[in-house]
Amino acid sequence: MPQLAYVAGRLVPLRDAHVHVEDRGLQFADALYEVAAVMNGRMLDWDGHLTRLRRGCAALFIEFSMSDAALLAQAQRLVAVNGHRDALLYMQLSRGTARRDHGFPLHARPTLVMTVRRFDFAQRIGQQARGVGVITVNDMRWQRVDLKTTGLLANVLAKQDARAAGAFEGWLVSADGDVREGGSTNAYIVRDGTIITHPLSAHILPGIARATLLRLARDAQITVVERPFTLDEALAADEALLTSTTAPLLPVVTIDGRPVGDGAPGPVAARLAALVWDEIARQTGWKAPR
Ligand SMILES: Cc1ncc(COP(=O)(O)O)c(C=O)c1O
Repeated sequence: MPQLAYVAGRLVPLRDAHVHVEDRGLQFADALYEVAAVMNGRMLDWDGHLTRLRRGCAALFIEFSMSDAALLAQAQRLVAVNGHRDALLYMQLSRGTARRDHGFPLHARPTLVMTVRRFDFAQRIGQQARGVGVITVNDMRWQRVDLKTTGLLANVLAKQDARAAGAFEGWLVSADGDVREGGSTNAYIVRDGTIITHPLSAHILPGIARATLLRLARDAQITVVERPFTLDEALAADEALLTSTTAPLLPVVTIDGRPVGDGAPGPVAARLAALVWDEIARQTGWKAPR
């Protein structure tokens, strides 16, 4: 069965799924996106993704009139017709199609596209046991990265540098030496049992997995401090971690090839990972295949 995509109200075969050459997402990255996990056929943290998308629309004055219920129904229909139990749902909402001109068009309607692809979440279990490495790169992004726009070139380059170095992620470090986040993940260190992570601001994306992790940690009486931390602090930390929709919790065991702690996944990461997978099971019924 060919895979289907949702393009502006229609389901079409993925290979024929196109947007207009004058779509503002294509020409200006004038577009928002979300990536949501579908696990065991169910959406994980749907409300969080929806709230972040709506917040982005408000901040960028994108007038998206589809109701919450209709958006969920269209997303669920797309997941169902593609027949995946475990998948990533990609949603992209641009300001619409109009003759190229930087200012907002008067009469464009936002273009919503959605795709879904199978995703093996169980691969994360093995990575969790081994831990992953990160490298550091300069954060050269614009000053509103709290908005989840498709303008991701700096993130793409960070990820490519990481890939070339055999690392899982590139950590984006500010001119002041603060570790902000990864190219597509949020970043944390652990010191004396306390989790430290960059506070929400214009300089990081408010990750959905981040919100879940911090809530679960606080519920479990683990202290969380939201403040910037430096690369030097990270190198001296007991443990380091990353989270995202596609990697719910991974221990970071090396930074630029240097070990964090003793260079192996630590006890706080293991405890947090157990909490995260329990929450995923609670929401979706997903269990790692044995
Ligand atoms: C820059 C950046 N930070 C963090 C994240 C993690 O966000 P979430 O937990 O919502 O997947 C992402 C996800 O794509 C990202 O692009």
